[in-house]
Amino acid sequence: MGAFKVRYMESGDYDRGLFEVLQQLTASPKVERQVFEKLLEEVKGDGYYHWMVVEVDGLVVGCGSLVVERKLIHSCGLVGHVEDIVVDESFRGKGAGKALLEKLSGKAKEVGCYKATLDCQDDRVPFYEKCNYKRRGAQMALYF
Ligand SMILES: CC(C)(COP(=O)(O)OP(=O)(O)OC[C@H]1O[C@@H](n2cnc3c(N)ncnc32)[C@H](O)[C@@H]1OP(=O)(O)O)[C@@H](O)C(=O)NCCC(=O)NCCS
Repeated sequence: MGAFKVRYMESGDYDRGLFEVLQQLTASPKVERQVFEKLLEEVKGDGYYHWMVVEVDGLVVGCGSLVVERKLIHSCGLVGHVEDIVVDESFRGKGAGKALLEKLSGKAKEVGCYKATLDCQDDRVPFYEKCNYKRRGAQMALYF
């Protein structure tokens, strides 16, 4: 197995196992190719959505995203929201998750966010702490 790289998502990832990896996070039915490609085109380069993957040997083995939110507080500052981080089961424990997080966090900093935040279950806290995130407050959710 070769070295992994973290890069922006591209349309070819549809055939490289992207949805199979996402299904390890939560229900992620494989949408129609055209739907995926249209969405990707919409978010590409808009500055607010940063969808990234981890690729190794032509396969997607991880993915995650950064969503940048414009605020009114903090002089109309920006906050980065890290979302939907997952690494393929067969590829865990090799530093891919951390590299992905670092890339997304670095992007948040680069585009001018004053912080990056994320929600996770308690047992994932040690992983995020290894990536320099700190526990702050509680998550609240209203499910529809
Ligand atoms: C959480 C997840 C993304 C970690 O990915 P990974 O590629 O295995 O993580 P890494 O190999 O980059 O680990 C980085 C560090 O965190 C540690 N770590 C990883 N998962 C951990 C866990 N569950 N508990 C404690 N430490 C953990 C590693 O030991 C490593 O430590 P080191 O730098 O001292 O060696 C992966 O396990 C996963 O996809 N889990 C299922 C989906 C999920 O829970 N996603 C997060 C939703 S919030």
